[in-house]
Parts: sequence; C-alpha cells; structure tokens
Amino acid sequence: MKISLLLAVCLAGFISMAKSAPRAQTPAPTLAELNAKQKQLESTIDAMTTQIMQAQLFLEERIRSDGSSGIKAVRLYHEGTSAFYEDNHIGNGALSMHDHANYDRTVGLGEFVAVMNGVEFRTRHNDYKLRMPLKHGKYHETEYIPFPDVPPSVLRQGTVPKQVEEMQEYFRAFRDQNVTHRDYRDYFKANLCVAEGSWTLSTNTLNEPFQSDRHHIDATSWQDLQDKVRFTSYTGTKSRLENFSWLPTKFYGQENGVPKVAQWNYRIICNPIGRNLPTSYFQQQDDLAHRLSRGRTLEEIKKSRAARFKLNEFSMQRSTVYTLLDQLMAQFPGLNNFGANLTDIFPDTNTAVKDVGQLPDNKVLNTGYYHRWFKTDRDGAMGLSVSHRGYNDKNLWVAFNTQPNVMPLSAKSCSDKWHCLNVSQRVSYAIPLEIIYMTPLLSWNPHHVAYTGTTPSPQAAAVTANGRNGGIDKHTAYNGTHKSIFYRTPADFYATGKVEADKADTAKGSVGVLDKQGNVHSMASSGVRVLTPSIGGNVGQVRTRYPIFPVHAEGSSSGVELSALKEMVMHMRKYADIYETPPLNMEPQHTDEVKLAMRPANKDPPGRHFHVITLTPEQHRQLVTGSQLTLTTSFAAGHSHKLVAFYDPHRQGYFYRTCDGQPNCWDGHQHNLERY
Ligand SMILES: *[C@@H]1O[C@H](CO)[C@@H](O)[C@H](O)[C@H]1NC(C)=O
Ligand SMILES: *[C@@H]1O[C@H](CO)[C@@H](O)[C@H](O)[C@H]1NC(C)=O
Ligand SMILES: *[C@@H]1O[C@H](CO)[C@@H](O)[C@H](O)[C@H]1NC(C)=O
Ligand SMILES: *[C@@H]1O[C@H](CO)[C@@H](O)[C@H](O)[C@H]1NC(C)=O
Ligand SMILES: *[C@@H]1O[C@H](CO)[C@@H](O)[C@H](O)[C@H]1NC(C)=O
Repeated sequence: MKISLLLAVCLAGFISMAKSAPRAQTPAPTLAELNAKQKQLESTIDAMTTQIMQAQLFLEERIRSDGSSGIKAVRLYHEGTSAFYEDNHIGNGALSMHDHANYDRTVGLGEFVAVMNGVEFRTRHNDYKLRMPLKHGKYHETEYIPFPDVPPSVLRQGTVPKQVEEMQEYFRAFRDQNVTHRDYRDYFKANLCVAEGSWTLSTNTLNEPFQSDRHHIDATSWQDLQDKVRFTSYTGTKSRLENFSWLPTKFYGQENGVPKVAQWNYRIICNPIGRNLPTSYFQQQDDLAHRLSRGRTLEEIKKSRAARFKLNEFSMQRSTVYTLLDQLMAQFPGLNNFGANLTDIFPDTNTAVKDVGQLPDNKVLNTGYYHRWFKTDRDGAMGLSVSHRGYNDKNLWVAFNTQPNVMPLSAKSCSDKWHCLNVSQRVSYAIPLEIIYMTPLLSWNPHHVAYTGTTPSPQAAAVTANGRNGGIDKHTAYNGTHKSIFYRTPADFYATGKVEADKADTAKGSVGVLDKQGNVHSMASSGVRVLTPSIGGNVGQVRTRYPIFPVHAEGSSSGVELSALKEMVMHMRKYADIYETPPLNMEPQHTDEVKLAMRPANKDPPGRHFHVITLTPEQHRQLVTGSQLTLTTSFAAGHSHKLVAFYDPHRQGYFYRTCDGQPNCWDGHQHNLERY
C-alpha cells in the first residue's frame, strides 16, 4: 500500500513536471515535500475509510429498521393486472421449495433474498443437504443426519405387500398424530433447518459454505462472483443455472491505513430436534396475495407447497416471551460448534448475561448457542431484567464464537470511571427456515436393492450403464441405486404416482429397479418431499416439510399493522367489539377466551404494573370445576410470573396459591385475580 502510494505521488510529480516542461525548470520535490504529501494522502484515505464504514453502518441501520431479519423475496415468475399476482416470499412454493426426492438427502429450495441483522443478501439456488454441525468439529464442519429406523413391526411382516400395508399405517398414525394407532414418534424425526450468516475474513478464496448435489457457486473468487452479479444485476439477466449469489463485503476497520475487509457468507444447516414435535404446533400463515391470485381457500393452500407456518405451541393467539422456537434454536450451536461454552459480559454491571429459558433464574447464558432473549442483572438492585437482542428485530438470533475466520469487533466499555473492559466479540446470526420430518422411507428398502453410495465408483456407474434409464424391464431398469437415483420405495405404497409438479422437481413417478437377484421392481423415489404423493390405504398426501421462515416486511411498522388488519378482517365476528363501526351490524361473538388480571404491584423497582392471564375455554372450565392450573402471566415490567391458580366457589373468585414457586409474588401482587 505504502509503495503504491509513493508510486502515485512520484507519478503525479512526474506529470506535473512534464506539464511544466516548457517553462523554466522547477526543482524536483524534496523528500520532505514527498513525506508531507504522503502524510496528507494517508490522512485522506483514513478519512475516506472511516466515511465508507459510516456509510455501510448507515445502510445496515436503515435496513435493520425497515424490517426484521427474515426473507424478503423469491425470484419473480408471476405477474398480473394487480400487484397481488406477483411473487413475494411465496413463488411456486413458499420460499420456492420443491422436491428432489430422487436424491438421498437433497432438500429442494430455490433462490431467495434475505436480511439478517440489516445485511441484505441474495442466495444461489440452495438445494441443501440434510447435514448437522459435527460434534466437537472444527469451523463449518458438518456430518450427515442419520436416517430414522424402519419400525420393527414393518420389518417383521413376511412379504413386501404386507410391509407396504404396515408402513401405510405408520403414515396414517403420523398424519393423525395418533400414537395409539402406531407409536410413530421414534420413526418420524423432526429437524430444524436454519440459514446462518456471518462476516468472514477469508476474502480472497471463495468458500462454498455448504454442500449441494446440484448447485455450486459458478465463480472462481469473490471478486469474480461480484463482477458476475454486478453484470446480471445491471442487465437484469439471470444465471440460467441459478448459481450466483450476491454476498456483500465491507470494511470493518483499518490497520496502518489499510482497510480491513470482511466478506458476508451464509449456509443452510439442520439439527435434529431430539424430541417429538406435534404437527398441531404449526399455525398456518395466511399469505393473502398468493391465495387471492389463485382463488384458493386456506385449507387448499395447506395442501400445497405454498403453505407457510409459524410455530405456536399455545393453540391460541397471544403475546410471548420465550417460546418453543427459542428452545429449539437454543440447541443450535453457533460457529464454535457443539461444545461451545461462551459468555457475554454485560458492561453496565460487569456480570455475565443470564439464560431466560432455564431455571434457576441466575443460570449464565451460554452465548455459543443461538438466542434472542437474555437476562441482565438489574443495576444495583435485586432481580433481573429481560432483554432482546437487537433494537427492534424480533428474529435476531445471535451466537458468539471464537473462530479466527470470523470478523471481530471490539469496543471499550466502562461500568464506571475505574472499571473498563475491552470487549471483543465474533458472532453469527441465524433465522429458522423450516422443520423437516425425516421419515422411515429414507431407510426402508424392502426389496433389498443395492445402494452404491455417495461417491462415483464402478458400481455406481453400473446403475445407469448401457442406457439404463428406469424402464420397467430387465434391460432398461436401473441396476441398483445411488445418491441421485434413490428409488427404493415400492410404487404400490402410493395410490398414485402423481405429485404437485414444479419444473424444478427432478424425480420420476415410478421407475424399474433391479434387485440383487436381477428381478425388476416398480419403485418410487425415497428422498425428502414437501408433501408425499397420495399414499395408498386411504392415507392420502402427508406433509413432511413445514416452512416457518420469518418475513422481513412483517417486522416493519406497516407489516405489524397489516398483520392486525388481516386478523381483524378475516375474523370480523370475533373482533366485532373492537371495530370503530361494527361491520354489517354484526353482534360481537363473545370470544371464548377468559382473561384474568393480577392486582397491581407497587414495588419499585420494577415499578407499578400488573399482568394478564389468558385462559382457553377448556382451561377456564377446568379451573371453575375445581382444578388447580399452572399458568404463565403476561409480560410486564420486564418479567412474568408462573402461578398455580384455583377458583374458590365460596368467595366466587380466582386466586393464586403459589407465585414462581413461592407463597407470595416477589413484587407483591395480592392473591386475588379479577376478570379482565
Ligand atoms: C387412534 O387410533 C386408534 C387405534 O387405531 C383408534 O381406535 C382411534 O379412534 C384413533 N383416534 C383418533 C382420534 O383418530
Ligand atoms: C450450476 O447448477 C447446475 C444445476 O442447475 C449444475 O448442474 C452445475 O454444475 C452448476 N454449475 C457450476 C459451475 O457450479
Ligand atoms: C463452561 O465453562 C465454565 C467455566 O468457564 C464451566 O464452569 C462450565 O461447567 C462449562 N459448561 C459446560 C457446559 O461445559
Ligand atoms: C481491544 O482489543 C483488541 C484485541 O483483542 C484490539 O485489537 C483493540 O484495538 C482493542 N480496542 C481498544 C478500544 O482498546
Ligand atoms: C448390476 O451391477 C452389478 C455391480 O454393482 C453387477 O455385478 C451386475 O452384473 C449388474 N447386473 C446387470 C444385470 O447388469
């Protein structure tokens, strides 16, 4: 840098000399003059770098306040006479999801634009694989997620048709979530898949951050990629194979006048949830534009790839603090992988931040895992206050790491005049994309057809040798299977081979495959699907992928208002009593929820406040018929309470017996609860 600066200065000097040649000779600049010039240039570059960093920060801050971390858009394929015909975050499918069920573990997912903590980026066609962070692994190391087992009662059946029938019963049980019918829970395993992003320091060599059998970034270096993206953005053209991603770079500091550059990168990665996740927790979201343009009901959309969900374990609409999704994200390690053990020291009090999700109250939060809520000690007072990462970003999940490849930032922070810390941190962000149930079809192989692995080999080549293309006869049937010819499910398992087709799908309906004895069997593909084809025995289609990605625009002020408006317009009767003018003279339908309020507490801190408890009709019925219920109150003044409540028929009132496990609430709420 210094040398090139000197060169530039010399060159400038030379040109000015050449220009002034006709006049009398001017003396060559002295070393002192050159030094002064260089100092001036250095301070100019210094000022410019600082200004560029300010401009980047401004841009990020602007995007951060425009909406939450989440998905912004997918590629546009549809338009119409009104805006609602256009694709937003739903294209052919939610987030352009589709099937590559002929691959053993490829998950079909198109391109999208996403925002993570104010960083906007555009992905290549994703088609990621079912991989999880490697236990005790190094930076970005992953391993395959094991396939679930085949239920023993399927394997015990004597014949393949009997196995097919028994497997259909497992899918019926999973569809109905009926564990009495068949206990499917050990064989249908939920995995949470997230998009994880971070600023990395490997700015020269292009790193493919995650594997895809189908797509790779089509560029040789970050610079090459940026040039290609700039060209496609300028002209509006498309990489036919959808292999470009737009991943920004930024200056994050300077050293001796040289700007330090960081490169944004992302990956898609999954993690087994390790517990049963009832499908009733998926609350369908109403994406009205898609629904109106197709003229479909919510129920019809639910059976299509366009359905989008949110995890809601409460079976009603309510405000929340720390939810099941937080618990699931908390199992996800950041870039230090499983085994991460990091803390975040809160500068104001010089103590580590605490975990909201765990009791006792003062358990230190392991910030090596993804979280958005945390607790801090109250300054100079008893108790804790609950905070959320970011300023106004509902979906900002952060995990700390100590990876040298990740951009560090440091700041000096002082709790008072004498106690200062130089805090340096490296972080990554994650947003949930979807939950995928892996099914026993991934490991079920009733005809014992050969599987020749994931790497090219002569055996793998034999699968398609001599023009074998899956015909239903000995000469053209596939000779066994491999990772991208993964057809092991007897075609009879399905009532029809038909699936909702998408031009990105790659599996054929049913194909011929030779078993080890050389007999031909008609087989269907066994990989991951959004919705299965219609399963025989009247089971029908079963959904195995539940997209739960957040939407960037939902985090803006208008997104928040629009969500309220949609809820009110779609349930006019339910909300008739809060309309300014009740619609069509509708009588308010009395909502079945019952709300109870705690008496205000005056203790300071935390200051005067009260809490509300929302009961479902069923909970209320249980309460008034004599049950004690454990209930969580609404969040106010930085906390909520866990109450054991009961109804006293003599006093005709509701009371709490214990509050956070104590006879009295720590902040002094009285025992009686009132209808609210
Ligand atoms: C669950 O399965 C059992 C056994 O097949 C059946 O008797 C019962 O009716 C099913 N329950 C529901 C809610 O479908
Ligand atoms: C681009 O994606 C296609 C799949 O659509 C794949 O076959 C091809 O290998 C990729 N090209 C590069 C250079 O990665
Ligand atoms: C994390 O490290 C602390 C000490 O720094 C230790 O007390 C704690 O047991 C560790 N936790 C885990 C899960 O390893
Ligand atoms: C803090 O420490 C880092 C190295 O750990 C150093 O690069 C940075 O300059 C320090 N910052 C301040 C404000 O002291
Ligand atoms: C099928 O492939 C195997 C090798 O995996 C080979 O031994 C066998 O002869 C092939 N069968 C036919 C019918 O080509």
